Formats: sequence, C-alpha cells, structure tokens
Amino acid sequence: MKDDLVLIIDFGSQVTQLIARRLREFKVFCEIHPFNKINDEFIKEVLPKAIILSGGPASVLDNNAPKPPSIIFDIGVPILGICYGQQIMVKMLGGNIVHGPGTSEFGKSYVNKKNESILFLKDFFETKNEQVWMSHGDHVSRIPSNFEVYGESENAPYAIIGDVNKHFYGVQFHPEVVHTLNGKALIKNFLELANITFKWNMKAYLEHAIHIIKEKVGDKKVICALSGGVDSSVTAILINKAIGDQLTCIYVNNGLMRKNESEEVIKLYTDHFKLHLIQADEKKLFLSNLLGVTDPEEKRKIIGKLFIEVFQKYASEIGEVDFLAQGTLYPDVIESVSFSGAPSATIKSHHNVGGLPKKMNLDLIEPLKELFKDEVRILGKELGIPNKFIQRHPFPGPGLAIRCPGEITNMKLEILRNADEIYIDQIKKYGLYNEIWQAFTVLLPVKTVGVMGDARTYDYVCTLRAVTSIDGMTADYYPFDHAFLSETSNKIINNVVGINRVTYDITSKPPGTIEWE
Ligand code: XMP
Repeated sequence: MKDDLVLIIDFGSQVTQLIARRLREFKVFCEIHPFNKINDEFIKEVLPKAIILSGGPASVLDNNAPKPPSIIFDIGVPILGICYGQQIMVKMLGGNIVHGPGTSEFGKSYVNKKNESILFLKDFFETKNEQVWMSHGDHVSRIPSNFEVYGESENAPYAIIGDVNKHFYGVQFHPEVVHTLNGKALIKNFLELANITFKWNMKAYLEHAIHIIKEKVGDKKVICALSGGVDSSVTAILINKAIGDQLTCIYVNNGLMRKNESEEVIKLYTDHFKLHLIQADEKKLFLSNLLGVTDPEEKRKIIGKLFIEVFQKYASEIGEVDFLAQGTLYPDVIESVSFSGAPSATIKSHHNVGGLPKKMNLDLIEPLKELFKDEVRILGKELGIPNKFIQRHPFPGPGLAIRCPGEITNMKLEILRNADEIYIDQIKKYGLYNEIWQAFTVLLPVKTVGVMGDARTYDYVCTLRAVTSIDGMTADYYPFDHAFLSETSNKIINNVVGINRVTYDITSKPPGTIEWE
C-alpha cells in the first residue's frame, strides 16, 4: 500500500483533511504530514508517488514563509499545489507572488478556461466559467518557465497553471471542497497522471492504524474513557485490536443513561470484544451532586468535573499509564479552532474528556482524528461492531441531565427513559432511524391537566425532538407525518405513568440548539 502513497504536505489549511478525504473516496492511500516535519531524508525514505501541497494561512511573501524541502521538485513525481501550496511552489520554482488591492478572493468565484486540452482538466470545465471556492489574499503574478496558464479568475490571473512535462500543477482555488463543483475531477485526473492505483479501502486503513498504534505505544499502557457512543467505542476496539490488554477502558455509569443502555454497551465491550473494562458505578454520586440544580450550565459543569474526578480515581488503580485514548474526529478538531482567532461565545460548555490529558499528564492517542463520522462508521463495521451500535444517534456527555430541564430526580429520569424508549422504538418500526441525525425525548418541568378514563390527570408534558443534520452544527426538524406523531403520542400517554401530554418540537438550529439545555 505504501508503494502508492500520496503525501499531503500540510501548511495549516482548515480543509487539509478534506483533501485526504477526497483521496480516500477515490480509494487512494495518503498521509498528511506538517511541512515542518518534512525534510530531504523523510522524502527519500517514504518515496511518495505524488505530492499535494495544501493551502495555509501564511503568506509566501513573509520572511519565514513555510516551505516544503526543495528535493520534492527533483524526485520526478507529480505535484499539485493548492492555494498557498500553489504559491509556494511557484515561488520556489522562480515565479512571483504579489499582494495588494485586487489580489484576494474569498468564497464563491469563477474560473474562465484559457486552454483545457490537458488531461489534468478532463471533465473540469462544464461551462466556460466554472464555479470554484477561493480563499486567498495574495496571487501568482508570474509563472515559472515551462509552466502554462490554463484558467484565470477575476483576481487570480493564474488560477490554474501547469508544467505538463513534469506534471506539476497549481490551482489558486480549493478543489477539495464541495463548492468547487468539479473539484473532484481535478483531483482524480492528478492521481491518474501520477499512475496511482485506486485500491485503498477501510480494511487497509485499519491495518495501517493498528501498525501506527503499535509503534507509538510499544509496551506502555493506555486508558480510554468509554461512553457507549460510536466514536469512543471504535477507538477502544481498534486500540484493543492493536495492543490487547495494554489498554484498560473505564466506563463511568453516571445514572444519566437511557433505558438498558449501560447494560447493553457493557455486554458489547466485555462479552463480544473482551475489552479490559473497569465499570465505575457512580450513579449515586452524580445524582446527589445534581440535586436541586436547575441551571443548564451548572449541570454541565458539575457533570464534567465529577467525570474527571471519577476517572482519575479509577485510573489511579491501574498503576503507571502513559497514554489516554480519545475518539476525537476531524470535525471536532476544526470546530475547536477559531477561523478568525477571535474568541467565540460559549453557547454550551461541552462535556468531554478534554480536561483529562493535562490534569493527568498523559499523551494522547486519537486514531480517528483524520476521519469523518461516516468513515468512522465504516471503520467500526470493519472491526465487526454490530450495525445497531454503529448507526446510533449521537448522545451527549451530560446524558439525560440536559434532557430534563429543571431539577433532576430519579422519578423524572425514569419517566423520561420510558417515554424515550417508546419514541425510539416507533422511529425504528417506521424505518426512519437512519434518516434522522438525532431523536430523543425531553421531559418538561411542567404539569398539565388531562382526562383519562373519565378521571382528571395532572402529569408531566414531554416533547419529542428529531432533527436532520450533516454535522450537528446546523439542523432542521424532521417532518414526521401526522399518523406517526399521533400513534407515538398515544403510545407514550397510554404506557408511561407520569406523562399526559406530548408535543413535537419544530425548531431548527439556529435559532434553537439540538439539545434543550
Ligand atoms: P447542540 O445542543 O449544541 O448539540 O445543538 C449539537 C450536538 O452536540 C451534542 N452535544 C454534546 N455532545 N457533549 C457531547 O459529547 C456535550 O456536552 C454535548 N452537548 C451537546 C448534541 O447531542 C448534538 O448532537
């Protein structure tokens, strides 16, 4: 597989991982390495079959502009420079870059074809003006000798350039993002020109990931917090496959899980995958600390803090540990980096294990850091995790605490669990589960009057939530038909003691959020 490596040299673009994702979609093996970790020896050792230079926030006009080692231009492999990557290639090969009025473009733009008779442009220009996505402040003002120009945009006279003999190509826009409508064609053409074989698959990724984990961990010990969610489960099962019992997992039962959830995930981890699992039954601790707490942020903070304390307590029983495994995905990494550098408002303090590595002085292992959610699901399948687990909707760290606005009591949690079970079963029965990003029930801190069997009732209201979304950042409510809603409402009211009214939440995000707290 290494024989067909495409090396992506990263200059810090927000979308570098998208380049890798596109390559994987074409079944091509690639590795991303930051520019400052790459030197002549590295290139000679890995011998990539093609190189892609990513975009990045720097300007090649800066004194210390990041550069790839110049050896990459001498080893006879095709190179594709994207945005900053194009500019640094041009500069290193003797061209020129300028900055000033009329050198920038951000967002949607159009490239006019100047000459499309080269293989690199096959299937790219559907019209004379092809839509692309730009994000640049400087632009190329003179191309190196042997290069030709193949496309121009309003503020980038050299939007597509190439040296067709050496197969060096440069584009000012980002072919890896979906807003560049035919960007995939360029990437595919480049790979074909590099004679790459399109044979990579998730099985190969799995083998590669196992190899990397083994090398990194050696004979040391790793701990992992399991939540029952897809990301932490795939992380743990993958690491377990690589290093077996050197991994210890800790599952904290905080009493805020859904009906039968803890039992089911524990069964999967221990019976099916034989993970070395410590079960921390801390239901009482969490619930007693949440008693009387109604403020959503306070709830989140209490749960986050307790989680760290409990995790530390159980981890200290394992003895010397060097690594903490986390199921961080690529979108989590982007979200945590602010584009503008400006601090963003805290809408909700997310509960995750982010505070742990610093507190415990542990190195991180994040084997999913390069993947997107759908890729993690494919990897999970490759690891043999049952579909039922892989397809699960996301579940927040603070669990049912944030689906129970107002004070949390055992009785309310019980009512919520029962209603939620019926709702999710209904969604599955109607075959809608995989169409929906996330569905759950919220128990409102409100009682209303009803009538059942000629008698007055005075019970809680619950609301049903179901949203569609790509990444959880924005969302819309799912348009259930009325028959589904009334059948579900009847089932809940008839079967759940404590609820006499059901509503459906039709708020999108924004202005709402997915969870209620
Ligand atoms: P919101 O409610 O912010 O949620 O629109 C977006 C997505 O994030 C999940 N969520 C969390 N996940 N820890 C998590 O791991 C948290 O503290 C947390 N809060 C919200 C939420 O379920 C939705 O998928």
